[in-house]
Amino acid sequence: MKKLSLEPYKGTRDFYPEDMFVQDYIFGVMRMVVESYGYQEYDASILEDTELYRAKTGEEIVNEQTYSFKDRGGRDVTIRPEITPTVARMVARKRKELAFPLRWYSIPNLLRYERPQRGRLREHWQLNVDAFGIDGMEAEKEMITIAYDIMRAFGVDDKKFVIKINSRKLVNYFLNDYLKLNKKQSYDVSKLIDKKNKMKEKEFRGAMESVVAKKDKVKKIVKFLRAGEVEEVGWVVKRVKKVEKGKNGKRGDETDGIEKVKEVVGGLKKLGIKNVVFDPTLMRGFDYYTGIVFEVFDANPKNNRSLFGGGRYDDLVGIFDVEKVSAVGFGMGDVTMKDVLETYKLLPEYESVADLYICLLSSEYANFAHDLSGDLRKQGLNVAVDFTGRKIGAQIKTADRQKIPFVLCVGEDEVKSGKFKVKNLGSGEEKVADQAGIVRIIR
Ligand code: HAM
Repeated sequence: MKKLSLEPYKGTRDFYPEDMFVQDYIFGVMRMVVESYGYQEYDASILEDTELYRAKTGEEIVNEQTYSFKDRGGRDVTIRPEITPTVARMVARKRKELAFPLRWYSIPNLLRYERPQRGRLREHWQLNVDAFGIDGMEAEKEMITIAYDIMRAFGVDDKKFVIKINSRKLVNYFLNDYLKLNKKQSYDVSKLIDKKNKMKEKEFRGAMESVVAKKDKVKKIVKFLRAGEVEEVGWVVKRVKKVEKGKNGKRGDETDGIEKVKEVVGGLKKLGIKNVVFDPTLMRGFDYYTGIVFEVFDANPKNNRSLFGGGRYDDLVGIFDVEKVSAVGFGMGDVTMKDVLETYKLLPEYESVADLYICLLSSEYANFAHDLSGDLRKQGLNVAVDFTGRKIGAQIKTADRQKIPFVLCVGEDEVKSGKFKVKNLGSGEEKVADQAGIVRIIR
């Protein structure tokens, strides 16, 4: 028989208690911040009908990155690679009953068939924060403020990360209407832009030329992508749109995109968030985004993956044949966040959930320890008892290695006197106390 592997499945992680501690800490900070904004938690199954993702998730994810299979009844199912289509389905399903606007969050595990590397695994957990039913840019500002607050709550200085903003509407207009690229070209160009930062300028131009075939178009693309401020792409606004504006009161997509980027960037700066920039190269791989898109990056080149990504997706709920609901949200992964916290040494040191370890000089004191620990638990302490009957030194060593902060030993003297030596394993300090005293010392 082949030897069984000790390794978890490629690109996934085992969570030993110390890893769980870190995971809980990260989720705890996320929850604290999003709940302070009144967001309510939801969840769903990891399995969905494959069809759900075909509609709007985006070709790369659906064709190359999903775990899809037929169930025993012949249905096509997929393990969720993201939770946005699910939450849109849930909102659509109760469209008539829900009290909008909704502020919802979830921390699901997601599976994507990716090449595992730093910041990218096949399974990750992702905080998702989404608001439904808010049309104005206040929603975008709230989302980005939450993302900012989460980073600050982790103790990350705002000089260490940058929030990049773009408009999907503006980019779509530029590629489809301004440059008049066909669907395939547009798609390939967005993919290339997505990879731009990993390519040399000459290589990028060459690849662009082979997609769009026209040198003047490539020049315009390069000029567009160079803009450092949204004002610098004003040249894509067509005059004719200004006339139209007077006629039907509707501004063109490009004007709308530019104005909204200005509103969000300007609005955030007024709120004291200074590390926000317009970035025309920001693509976001999902087809459902309809307006502002944003990502948060660590400024340290070691962690070059995005920490958060999101945007507005006003048409996704509507694909379920219900009345449209505007939506804005973002996802933030645990893997990249942990990398950042490790880089900046911001993770708290491991602490055991147990406050006290009770060692026994002999197994005859087991019943006594059972009662004592029961009483201490009722008073709010977390207590583990060593029933192994090993030498006392070995028992204390276990407590120490498991990072349990306090120990006490039970023998004849303790049983008779009702007094215990409570030892702090960190400092080595020992104090004698009765039962009530134990609680006081440990608190
Ligand atoms: P996303 O950009 O695919 O967006 O993922 C959001 C975040 O999840 C990324 O910035 C990254 O931190 C993390 N992430 C994604 N894939 C992986 C991976 N393979 N390994 C580790 N971490 C990863 C979405 O999924 C959208 N559905 C977010 C959203 C919510 N948009 C609107 N609402």
